[in-house]
Amino acid sequence: MRTEYPGGAMTESRRYDTAKACRLLWRAYETSSLAQRALAAVRPLIARFDRVIGHIPPGAHLFDIGCGNGMLLALADCYAASGPGVGVDTNMAAIAAAREMAAARSLPLIFRVSETPPDWPVETFGAVTMIDVLHHVPAPLRKGLIEAALERVEPGGLFIYKDMCRRPVFRRLWNQLHDLLLARQLVVVEPIEHVIGWVSRAGFAPVASERYVGAGVYGHELEVFRRPAAA
Ligand SMILES: C[S@@+](CC[C@H](N)C(=O)[O-])C[C@H]1O[C@@H](n2cnc3c(N)ncnc32)[C@H](O)[C@@H]1O
Repeated sequence: MRTEYPGGAMTESRRYDTAKACRLLWRAYETSSLAQRALAAVRPLIARFDRVIGHIPPGAHLFDIGCGNGMLLALADCYAASGPGVGVDTNMAAIAAAREMAAARSLPLIFRVSETPPDWPVETFGAVTMIDVLHHVPAPLRKGLIEAALERVEPGGLFIYKDMCRRPVFRRLWNQLHDLLLARQLVVVEPIEHVIGWVSRAGFAPVASERYVGAGVYGHELEVFRRPAAA
């Protein structure tokens, strides 16, 4: 059993199971539109949150950048027994849905609309996540966004980054089609080597590097880095 937070936690800790995660999200967004609920319910199949959650240290205070409607934080609360979390996103409707979900389930999560890093919380976190966000950010702003994310990682903490793959080409095209239809945006993914370079130059050490497929067709690139512990 997980430790309960004041106000009551979502559920007890258990082994991540994608089908259960889909059902959990379907229930968690019961006040959203049918389309939003359906998108939330299939997201664990597409995004493979299991791979991300597997790297979250139990009890870590989480900061999720580009949190959308808070799915990762909700699942992390349930499956990683993560500590209280903060999510930021530029999308007001997504943050409203996240707040509603967290309030209805008494989750220890805070959600904020944030346009730029100066709007983010100033404290540091045990784990900072950025999942499928960077390809939505204008190219000239990407390096700065990553550097700002790294500043929010506490000494010894983790930066967990995932985005869509650029190779093979058919997977990249599939994701571009997905974003064209759902986000009305023609996205261009940042080469993962660039991200690795930016994070490494900031002094972070590589912890894990994974390539995998979601829902049979979406290609993912996951990188996990650790900030050196304070001397
Ligand atoms: C594909 S969604 C991913 C949402 C969530 N991370 C997930 O995995 O379910 C991308 C999100 O990034 C957000 N986003 C794009 N640019 C952003 C920025 N500069 N700062 C914060 N969020 C941003 C979008 O509003 C959107 O909610």
